[in-house]
Amino acid sequence: MTPKTFKIKSFGCQMNVYDGDRMAELLSQQGLTVTEDTEAADLVVLNTCHIREKAADKAYSDVGRLRREDGSRPLVALAGCVAQAEGAEAKRRSPMIDIVVGPQAYHRLPEMVAQVARGARPVDTDMPAISKFDALPPRRQATPSSFLTIQEGCDKFCTYCVVPYTRGAEISRPWQDIVAEAHELVDGGARELVLLGQNVNAWAYDGRDFADLIRELARIDDLHRIRYTTSHPADMNEALIAAHAEVDKLMPYLHLPVQSGSNRILKAMNRSHTVESYLATLEKMRAVRPGIALSGDFIVGFPGETEQDFEDTLRLVDAVGYASAYSFKYSPRPGTPAATMEDQIPREIMDDRLQRLQARIIEQQLAFNRTKVGRDTQILIERQGRHGMQMIGRSPWLQSVHVETSAVPGDIIDVAIVGAGQNSLTGAELRRVAA
Ligand code: SAH
Ligand code: SF4
Ligand code: F3S
Repeated sequence: MTPKTFKIKSFGCQMNVYDGDRMAELLSQQGLTVTEDTEAADLVVLNTCHIREKAADKAYSDVGRLRREDGSRPLVALAGCVAQAEGAEAKRRSPMIDIVVGPQAYHRLPEMVAQVARGARPVDTDMPAISKFDALPPRRQATPSSFLTIQEGCDKFCTYCVVPYTRGAEISRPWQDIVAEAHELVDGGARELVLLGQNVNAWAYDGRDFADLIRELARIDDLHRIRYTTSHPADMNEALIAAHAEVDKLMPYLHLPVQSGSNRILKAMNRSHTVESYLATLEKMRAVRPGIALSGDFIVGFPGETEQDFEDTLRLVDAVGYASAYSFKYSPRPGTPAATMEDQIPREIMDDRLQRLQARIIEQQLAFNRTKVGRDTQILIERQGRHGMQMIGRSPWLQSVHVETSAVPGDIIDVAIVGAGQNSLTGAELRRVAA
């Protein structure tokens, strides 16, 4: 059967979501129609993530649940990082999977769908030298805040992480391709671009670096805001710090994962930065952009982590004062060096450490949000809120702001911040800035 409708479910990081959007555009270009209703879709693409435990098991059970009450099922494509890691094994484990397509090969999805119609069950986990980006259609539609992948893959090989295996080697997209895609997105209605890469600040092309790229994109008139994620501490250079001082459109927010506050653990993680070098970078950033919102990622319970190591992490959190942060229990990933290290930490200890760390982070987040109360700020309206005239926008510091307004997604308005919770702010509209 040739599918007419499709549904894509994305489970991973922002780059995985970006890939989901690009697959949707590609299928639409081929004449398929997107549907929100998984039950009614002729083709379902599960765009999976492999970063933490049970990712593969979860993907297979998600596949199983696509079987419908009458015994029928849609055409099923397993995409994303689990597809890359499992490859042809996926077809053996689940007879319901028709297509296995990795994150660097999804431009071939339409061709693979056609192969299924001819009775095949194609697997494509190649990482072709010719970029998938060249084969994808131009961007036509954009959301007020739109993702733009500029860099793929990772060469860092942190000892706990699957990304270098699922995404391949670090590659920077060409300058002119990124600038062209940025223009397409802004013409399609984007007011903010979030530049994406597993190590986005390592982007370099033809003698130009990431700061040069930011300055170039800032010249696009109708683009109001630029953000980027995720950065590696070892790739934070002076030029990028200077860009934060000089480029107004570059938002005062930095997500800089540190993972641990213990140099011993950082070394075992192969992180190539120390607690001291990390703090020095943040200090420089705060010197050029006072009030910048700082965010990070943490792993608790890495093999060999002692109570002392963990307390060093808490100390680092206290020293930084995060505006937000993500923390995870260490999850052994098959094939990574850390998975076979001695001294794996028992679950109860991990649970306890995670709870203590998160309590500290929540306190800091609330404290940061409260500093905004009584101040005026600009927000980009992104979507409808829960009721009536309520809209949800983002502050420059990436906080969600709830506001009653007749403004629509894509508008930028001035608001007075009148309330703050742990996860969001409440604003009162002052005036319209840009529509
Ligand atoms: N490239 C980014 C993000 C990588 S994945 C970076 O280097 O920071 C996002 C986050 O998932 C990581 O920052 C890390 O905190 C977490 N993570 C990655 N592998 C993990 C694992 N095996 N167990 C638990 N958390 C993990
Ligand atoms: Fe994973 Fe480390 Fe690469 Fe980040 S830098 S993607 S944590 S290997
Ligand atoms: Fe997950 Fe792959 Fe992103 S493993 S975090 S979807 S790069």
